[in-house]
Amino acid sequence: MKVLGIESSCDETSAAVVLHEKDGLCILSNSVASQIEIHARYGGVVPEVASRQHLLAIVPVIEQAMAEARIKWEDLDGVAVTSGPGLAGSLIVGVNAAKAIAMARNLPLTGVNHLEAHIYANWLTKGAKDLDFPLVCLIASGGHSDLVLMRGHGEYVLLGRTRDDAAGEAFDKAARILGLGYPGGPAIEKAAASGTSSLTLPRAWMKDSNDFSFSGLKTALLRLSEAGRIPKVEDAAASFQEAVVDVLVSKTVRVAKEYHARKILLAGGVAANKLLRNRLLADSPIPVSIPPIGLCTDNAAMVAACGCYRFTAGKRDGLDLDAYPSLRLA
Ligand code: KG4
Ligand code: ZN
Repeated sequence: MKVLGIESSCDETSAAVVLHEKDGLCILSNSVASQIEIHARYGGVVPEVASRQHLLAIVPVIEQAMAEARIKWEDLDGVAVTSGPGLAGSLIVGVNAAKAIAMARNLPLTGVNHLEAHIYANWLTKGAKDLDFPLVCLIASGGHSDLVLMRGHGEYVLLGRTRDDAAGEAFDKAARILGLGYPGGPAIEKAAASGTSSLTLPRAWMKDSNDFSFSGLKTALLRLSEAGRIPKVEDAAASFQEAVVDVLVSKTVRVAKEYHARKILLAGGVAANKLLRNRLLADSPIPVSIPPIGLCTDNAAMVAACGCYRFTAGKRDGLDLDAYPSLRLA
């Protein structure tokens, strides 16, 4: 089965072709047009600008993905598209492109939850054959920090979520406080590389709760900055990164033990963070699956991967598929 995936939920326009064979998935192409440089001028994603950029990029990106995969339209078996959650004006560009292709080529269509797609990036890794359920997934992105129990393909139980800022959002806000630019995650990681975590910053453990909270940490950083008590930005970046990673890793490991997970899956843009990747690998008593960095941030290969499993399970949508900005995973 060959599936065309389309992603446009935030500020990356992406299209990919994924081949699903008996022994797993294989990426035939994964084309990503990033808007990061445009939004960086404003210090964050401007929804109206994002929507217009998707409109400009969507057709060339799809054409590029088809060309790189060296396939014709009639070789496709289905179209998968992110239908939520995300920015409404961004989502509708991808959803309408996918619907147009499905209608014109008489192809099956499936709407994919963006968070589920992040999880399925793990099925594009070398170790995908060893992914036995139950799995515990940490999805850490710009809009979400969710701990999810995955009992089977498409079967999710939400175990924990952020009560305020998502992990990626916290990185972005901290970078703004420290004057490090946008997007904050990579900027903090880069600055942290030449700093030491010498600042004392709070961690919201919230007793036995599996939920996260990062707004107190962000405010603590802001207060230090306002009081002129940040002598070295690099040390503040390292201390902040350490605090976020501490909480993400220890709650994920605890939950994985509690639910007897066979493996931990890391997913979402924040999974690109090397300290998070290394700490989880070091601290987890059970195996950990982490996608390559390019498959952690938004891309359409993960959407196509998820689409392959949805089509296999007979999950299809009609041409009335809409954009669902607040779509939930569980
Ligand atoms: O999954 P993603 O690409 O888009 C959403 O679905 O939100 O995640 C974007 C988030 C941003 O907040 C960005 O700052 C963060 O992921 N991020 C990182 C790193 N790379 C991206 N956070 C920490 N370290 C990184 N290396
Ligand atoms: Zn994402």
